[in-house]
Amino acid sequence: MKLGDVVRISLACILLGSTCWAGNPVPKPWPLQFHALLFENFTSDGNSRLSILDLWYDWVNGRNYNIIQNQLGQKIWDAEWTNGTSFKFDLEQKTCTRFSVPVGILRPDFLSDARYFGVETVDTFTCNVWEKADFMTYYEDVETQRPLGWLFYTGRFEHVITFEEGAVLSDPYWQAPSYCFDDKVELQGEYVREHGAFL
Ligand SMILES: *[C@@H]1O[C@H](CO)[C@@H](O)[C@H](O)[C@H]1NC(C)=O
Ligand SMILES: *[C@@H]1O[C@H](CO)[C@@H](O)[C@H](O)[C@H]1NC(C)=O
Repeated sequence: MKLGDVVRISLACILLGSTCWAGNPVPKPWPLQFHALLFENFTSDGNSRLSILDLWYDWVNGRNYNIIQNQLGQKIWDAEWTNGTSFKFDLEQKTCTRFSVPVGILRPDFLSDARYFGVETVDTFTCNVWEKADFMTYYEDVETQRPLGWLFYTGRFEHVITFEEGAVLSDPYWQAPSYCFDDKVELQGEYVREHGAFL
């Protein structure tokens, strides 16, 4: 390689950013709005519990929903707002918990500093794999660059079944029920938000 080539490559790398040096793939940022249907397998203490989740990510409006149907169990509505307030409620039992998570919801580029792990086959798909700060392992389909799934460090594996870019859940669904506001106090502290942002 001639000196001129080195200078040219170095310059290109500076313009493209640091990932150029390592030559590793980077995860595609999340679309600003999408709906994903997720199949969750939560394994802890040797037991696995299954759920189906509707994930409505809406960065534009500063909100994120996880509507969680546990197998033959409760349906939990988990609405997270970017101002830090989270509501987790059960419409049948009329119970609600209000949390404060100051960090808000995940940024679309929250994986930009994730560490590349290589290629793995997951659910029969060839995926690029990254690890995000001991928080999650993230799998992206090599062919389409769609998220294939992620594994939270708590043992929750989210398998992406459908992924609709640009889909938005209409406003009325986001309104938390009145009993969410009965208690004046918001729970603070070490609550780790497993389905959205994190501490
Ligand atoms: C859930 O995960 C456990 C542990 O990895 C595995 O043994 C089990 O087969 C999985 N169940 C389903 C339905 O994927
Ligand atoms: C954050 O936004 C939600 C939805 O608009 C609202 O219900 C909640 O009170 C807000 N929280 C704070 C701390 O302002």
